[in-house]
Amino acid sequence: MAESMKGLKRTHRCTEVSAANIGETVTVMGWVQKQRNKGGIIFVDLRDRSGLLQIIFEETDIQAEGMAKAEKLRSEFVIAVAGRVEKRSGAVNENLATGDIEIRATELRILSEAETPPFPIEADSKTKEELRLKYRYLDLRRPDLQGKLMLRSKIAAKIRSFLTEEGFLEIETPILQKSTPEGARDYLVPSRVHPGSFYALPQSPQLFKQLLMCSGYDRYFQIAKCFRDEDLRADRQPEFTQVDMELSFVDVDDVIEVNERLIQYVCKEAIGLEVSLPIPRMSWQEAMNRFGSDKPDTRFGMELTEVSETVKGCGFGVFTSALEAGGSVRGINAKGQAEMPRKKIDALVEFAKGYGAKGLAYLAVLPDGSYKSSFAKFMSEEELKALVGKMAGEPGDLLLFAADKNKIVYNVLGALRLEIAGQMGIIDEDQFNFLWITDFPLLEWDEEENRYTAMHHPFTMPVDEDLALLDSDPGKVRAKAYDIVLNGTELGGGSVRIFQSDVQEKMFEVLGFTREEAYNRFGFLLNAFKYGVPPHAGLAYGLDRLVMLLVKADSIREVIAFPKVKDASCLMTNAPDVVDEKQLDELAIQVCKTDKTEE
Ligand code: AMO
Ligand code: AMP
Repeated sequence: MAESMKGLKRTHRCTEVSAANIGETVTVMGWVQKQRNKGGIIFVDLRDRSGLLQIIFEETDIQAEGMAKAEKLRSEFVIAVAGRVEKRSGAVNENLATGDIEIRATELRILSEAETPPFPIEADSKTKEELRLKYRYLDLRRPDLQGKLMLRSKIAAKIRSFLTEEGFLEIETPILQKSTPEGARDYLVPSRVHPGSFYALPQSPQLFKQLLMCSGYDRYFQIAKCFRDEDLRADRQPEFTQVDMELSFVDVDDVIEVNERLIQYVCKEAIGLEVSLPIPRMSWQEAMNRFGSDKPDTRFGMELTEVSETVKGCGFGVFTSALEAGGSVRGINAKGQAEMPRKKIDALVEFAKGYGAKGLAYLAVLPDGSYKSSFAKFMSEEELKALVGKMAGEPGDLLLFAADKNKIVYNVLGALRLEIAGQMGIIDEDQFNFLWITDFPLLEWDEEENRYTAMHHPFTMPVDEDLALLDSDPGKVRAKAYDIVLNGTELGGGSVRIFQSDVQEKMFEVLGFTREEAYNRFGFLLNAFKYGVPPHAGLAYGLDRLVMLLVKADSIREVIAFPKVKDASCLMTNAPDVVDEKQLDELAIQVCKTDKTEE
């Protein structure tokens, strides 16, 4: 039977009690981690979000009724205990913050009993994630998850205070809105009042924050929920949180400057990490050439080397035909991996194919200087020597080459580099390498649709000196866009926005929007620009990703209280779920195809 708290008031969280309180009477409340009955003496580890505290029950201190209740205690019972703080009678537990004290209970109330949980409530759980997510409210009791969510709260609070101090205004933007152009699929919400019409949940507050600039708020931020219907990965969720900001009368350097100080402040305050400024910057092209990625992990080398010139005209058809088709040949040098067994190399070839490679050519420089290679037989001794030389290959090294269109070569080697570094264990987990990537291409050629699409979004400003290229060679135009990368993950991104209508119209033209289409989708923004628009720019971080990296979690799910799984469902609430016919009728919606009817 549940007892009431009446007359008792919690005085401390478990680990707020310390040796300084010895002799005092305190009242603590929380969950029973463990009860041990030693016959006449009962020990209870009491847990709350702060940690554990040992309670000792003995007949000399507590009435018989209290002792009887203590005997009944089981894991996860919720209790209130009043008692005296004492120096620990047994051995000091060095692993506990409260390991040198205990509470000698004088009163016990059982506030709630508990069934045996489906898995133990403990740190570093071995329980399968599906089961933990089904009982997320129990999973969230585990100290490591609690630690991560508490740090998340702290990070958000620090961000808020920094930005507020810097003159940013926190302003909310609508969740029920019109589609925003971030390039993912929208989540739609049917309108009851306007049958057949739909709201879109925001993929980001992009257009509204630009409107706020038009309205003169000049520095805006928001910790905003965003929704994107895209395939989930370890660092992606269908709903996630952005730290979103926009600034007026600024250019690239101004945005970067304030954000570098924000990053430095938050890292220091949240995890005591010193980030030295300025954060290095690298152009998109350099990042692709050196790392095969626009979010390079710079905690290790193994950079890409272009060998197109070296292998031009060599005897290996795979290389020469890729070059003839306008592609390139590039390689990475896996130092000291020459003895990698054939099976492992084959697995790397398969891995590369997963990233679009047709194959992966390898050459191992054996300790005696001879080669073991999938293509050496096609090349002369001199050609091989030149190639190994270009790759700075030394005895013991394994050289891996991809030959294809640039995009594929970058993709394959960029991924391979990470995979091999992971296998070799050369990534220093204690290092935090922030990096700005700048000068992204403005446009990307969409092979399927046979047209250009915006790499960031259609409101991104071209680099000043490339403006003229918008007419002549749009593919070459660089954007005033920047991403902030941490240890190989894209933390955030943003850009300077177009604020001149002629440039915007040109941009729509290049993207293949008619004037009508553009006005149909973004008319409210284009109209707003007619009434006086300041130059403006902004950026948004993925808050979940930031927290994930700062707490070194393997997955974004570890830093979100109630995350979704791969198929975007919630294992605890069973969302998404079917709804009543009546609800559908009200919305004028008829379900004509479901998984079941398709079978
Ligand atoms: P972008 O689309 O780059 O830019 O998003 C900004 C940041 O949001 C995070 N993010 C995600 N995090 C978790 N799950 C997802 N599905 C997900 N998608 C994105 C990433 C990303 O860097 N409006 C622009 C910003 C701007 O131009 O100011 C925008 O949304 O960390
Ligand atoms: P093949 O002549 O197709 O058997 O290929 C010889 C070697 O070249 C094998 O190791 C293939 O994996 C590799 N290879 C094939 N296509 C490519 C490519 N596009 N880039 C790099 N290596 C390739």
